[in-house]
Amino acid sequence: MNKSHTGATAWTAASSPAPNSILNLDRLLEERYSCRSFDHQRTISPHYLELLLNAAAKAPSACNLQPYHFEVVTGKSLARVERLRNFYGASALIIGAFDAQNPGYVSAQGQEFRLFDLGLALMAVALKATELGLGSCFIGSLPIKELKATLKLTTEPIIALALGYPAADAAPSENHELRRTGAELYTLHD
Ligand SMILES: Cc1cc2nc3c(=O)[nH]c(=O)nc-3n(C[C@H](O)[C@H](O)[C@H](O)COP(=O)(O)O)c2cc1C
Repeated sequence: MNKSHTGATAWTAASSPAPNSILNLDRLLEERYSCRSFDHQRTISPHYLELLLNAAAKAPSACNLQPYHFEVVTGKSLARVERLRNFYGASALIIGAFDAQNPGYVSAQGQEFRLFDLGLALMAVALKATELGLGSCFIGSLPIKELKATLKLTTEPIIALALGYPAADAAPSENHELRRTGAELYTLHD
């Protein structure tokens, strides 16, 4: 762990423990919530972005086709897309997108699995973000056409994961507490 010239703690070495690295999976799942207020001034280091994308790269996918591409948006590009919608002051977006060249696995019964694959990869990113002390929020309501034009994308954006350090007023919404449990959640077929 190093102290940067600004006095902020910078995690530089790949082996450095992340702020929440002592959290087990239960705690990470517990700590994650949709953060809708980020500290816009605090940027995410390139090293952290790499760690987040490494988490996505480890996710399973049907037939291991990994039928997605991630458009990582920071800095001036982020300022441009912020004119299109509110990203809650995030410092980075990881946009999960599909590539026409790779439709992913489609079963003999016609089931398409690429949305599922993308969700798994981005959930890994969301949990890694929690481990790194970052907040995250999935954003499905995207202005697709405008986003493609602004970023000159050749891929098809599906969903964004907004990322950043939670602002002082960040808190889970009431929705966060509404969880299905027991028979409402599952049926056991013994
Ligand atoms: C596929 C998907 C799309 C979502 N789209 C949005 C969105 O456009 N805007 C938003 O503020 N939250 C969005 N969310 C966040 C959900 O509202 C949130 O996950 C849900 O209310 C549960 O709250 P929690 O994440 O705090 O547990 C989305 C979540 C998912 C999984």
